[in-house]
Amino acid sequence: MYLGVDYYPEHWDKSMIDDDLVRIREMGANIIRIGEFAWHLMEPMPGEYDFSYFDHVISKAKGYGFKVMFGTPTATFPAWLSKKYPSILSEDEYGNIRVFGGRRQYCFNSDIYKEYSGKIVTELVKHYSDEEAIIAWQIDNEFGHEGSHMCYCEDCHRKFQEFLEDKYTDIDSLNDIYGTIFWGQSYNDFDEIPIPKPTITTHNPTLKLDWARFRSHSINGYGMLQIDLVKKLKGAHQSITHNFFGGFFDLAYNQNIMADALDFVSYDNYPVWGGLKEPIAPAHIAMTHDYIRGLKGKNYWIVEELMGAQGHNIIGYLPRPNQAKMWAYQAMAHGCENMLFFRWRGMTRGAEQFCLGIIDQDNEDGRKYTEVQSFMKDIVSYEGVIKGEIDSDIAVIYDFDNIWAWKYQQQSSEFDFTKELLRLYTPFYNLNTNIDVISADNNFEKYKVLIVPVMQIIDEELAKRLSDFAKNGGTILFSFRSGIKDKNNNIHFGNPFPCYIRDIAGIQINESEALQDEAGVMILGIDNYEGEQGLCEVWRDLISLETAQCLYRYDDKFYKDKACVTVNQYGKGKAYYIGGGVNIDLLEDLAKEIVTDKKIPYILSPKGLEVYNRKLNEEEYLFITNHTSDFLNFNGQLIHPYESKVTKKQ
Ligand code: GAL
Repeated sequence: MYLGVDYYPEHWDKSMIDDDLVRIREMGANIIRIGEFAWHLMEPMPGEYDFSYFDHVISKAKGYGFKVMFGTPTATFPAWLSKKYPSILSEDEYGNIRVFGGRRQYCFNSDIYKEYSGKIVTELVKHYSDEEAIIAWQIDNEFGHEGSHMCYCEDCHRKFQEFLEDKYTDIDSLNDIYGTIFWGQSYNDFDEIPIPKPTITTHNPTLKLDWARFRSHSINGYGMLQIDLVKKLKGAHQSITHNFFGGFFDLAYNQNIMADALDFVSYDNYPVWGGLKEPIAPAHIAMTHDYIRGLKGKNYWIVEELMGAQGHNIIGYLPRPNQAKMWAYQAMAHGCENMLFFRWRGMTRGAEQFCLGIIDQDNEDGRKYTEVQSFMKDIVSYEGVIKGEIDSDIAVIYDFDNIWAWKYQQQSSEFDFTKELLRLYTPFYNLNTNIDVISADNNFEKYKVLIVPVMQIIDEELAKRLSDFAKNGGTILFSFRSGIKDKNNNIHFGNPFPCYIRDIAGIQINESEALQDEAGVMILGIDNYEGEQGLCEVWRDLISLETAQCLYRYDDKFYKDKACVTVNQYGKGKAYYIGGGVNIDLLEDLAKEIVTDKKIPYILSPKGLEVYNRKLNEEEYLFITNHTSDFLNFNGQLIHPYESKVTKKQ
C-alpha cells in the first residue's frame, strides 16, 4: 500500500529536504507526489529544459526509500508563455481574459497551448522514463476546477462550430433538431452559430446542451493528448493517473471518458473547503467516493486527502481533532487503496498561505502529524481487505446529458442535481448498504436495486434496459420529471409523461408544478403508510395511477386525488416513483422496505455513525467512522467523537 504526502520541496530552502524526508518517513509514508505546478522550474526560458532540481529531489527521496508520483506541470504555465502568446489565455462569458497570475487560465482549445504542453510533457517523461522511483504520472491537476471548464474565446467559438458541423453534417438537420424555427433563429451556415454568452432571455436548450458536450469534449481532448504522449514515452513500470475533485456534477465534463484512458483514477478528497461553515454531509462525502470508484468500476487512489483547514481568501472550518483522520478511514472503506495527504507543510508565501497541511508554519510535528502517523501505522494492517473488490447490490445511475440539461433549465429555483441524487442515495447510505454510483451507460444488470434520480432525459434505448431490469426482478426507484425529454434536450411529443417508462412505473403525469423557495406541500400515507405524513418540496408531479398503487398522496384542496409516491409491480420486479422532493425521513422507510424485500444486508447504526462492510474471502470487516462530535453506541461499543477504526466482524 502506498501512503504519502504532497510535497513541494521547491517551496523551501534546499537545506530542509533531509529533515523533511526523515520526518515524512517516520510518519509512515513511502511515497511523495511532486512537480505538478513547477513548469517554470523545468523550463525557465522557452525551450531550455532543466530537470536538475528534480533530479536532486528524486535522488534524495530514493535515499530514504520513497517512491514518487510525478505531476505534469501544465496546470500552471510559465509567465513567458502567456507573454509570448496571449491567445492561450481563456476568456469568461463576459469577454474578460483570465490574465496570468492564478492557475488553470489556459484554453483547452488553444493549439499553441497544446503544442507547448506536448513539448514539456515529452521532455519530462523522456527524462524520467527509466527512473525506477517514479511509479506514476499524474496528468495536469484537477482538470476543469475553479471555473476552468468554461472558456468563451474565439478559438473555442470556431471549434464549437466545427464540432457541430461534424455532428450534424448539414445545417438543415441542426435547424430541425434545434427547432430554430422558433424565434426565427434558423441558420444558413455553421459559422453563424453563437456560443452561449449572455443574451436577452435565454439560448436554445439544445444549443446549450451541445455547448456542454463540446466543453467536455475539449477537456477530454486536451487530457487525451497528454495521456497518449505519456503512454508512448513512459517506462513500463510507470502508470498514468489524474486527480479528479468533488463537485463533478456541476461541471461540463464527463470524467468517465478520461477515466477509461487512465491506469487508475485518483481523487482529491476535501470534505470541507473555503468558507464552508461545516463539512458536507457524511452521505455526500460517501457518495463522492462511490462515484469516483464507479468511474472505472475499480478501487482508486486519493492523492490529496485534506488534513488542515483550507481557503484562498475566506478560511473555512477547522477539522476537529481526529475528524480528518476519520475521513481518511471512510475513504479507505469506500475503495481508496493508496492515499497521499495534502500537503506536507503549509506554504508561508503565495496564494495558498491558508491552505494548511500536516505541518504548520512552526515546523513542529504537532497534532495533525500524530493523527496521520497513527492512521498510517494502523491502516497497513488491513491492506488485504482494502485491496479487495467492493460488491454492491444497489447502484445509482446518472447521465451527464441529463445533468447538463438540468443545469441550463433548473425548472425550480430550489433544484440542485446533487441534492436530488443525495435525496435518494442518503436513505440507503443511512442503512449502511454498499452503493455504486455509475454512469447509465454501464451495464447495470447485476444489481438488485437501481436508483434513477430525476432522469428527465430517457430515450427508448435506456427505457428498454430499465424495462428488462425490472422485468427480470430488479427494483427501480425513479424520481420526479422522469422521461420528459429526448437526447436532443427536446420534450417528447405525443405521449403522456413519463415517456417510455410509463408502463414500468404504471402511472401517468398530466400536470406538474415547481415548488419555489419555501413552498412545500404536505403528503399523506395510504394503506401500509396510513397515518404517516411528509413534505414535498422543490417540485411535484401530479400522478394519476394506471397499474401502480399509491403510497402517498398530496394533501391540498385541488389535488387530493393525485399521488406523490407510487409503486408498481412490473414483470418480476417493481418500480417506485417519487413525484417530488420528498423528505428523506420518509424515504428511509421506503429504503428499508426495498432492502428487506430484496434481501440486501444492511446495518442499523446511530445517526452519524457510518459502518461500512467489506469482505475478504470469508471474513467480514467493519469500517466504523463516527461523523459526529458525540459519543455513540454501536453493538455495545462506545465510539468516541470522530473516532474511526476497522474491526473484524465476529
Ligand atoms: C486542491 C488542489 C491543490 C491545492 C488544494 C488546496 O484542489 O489540487 O493544488 O490547491 O486544493 O486546498
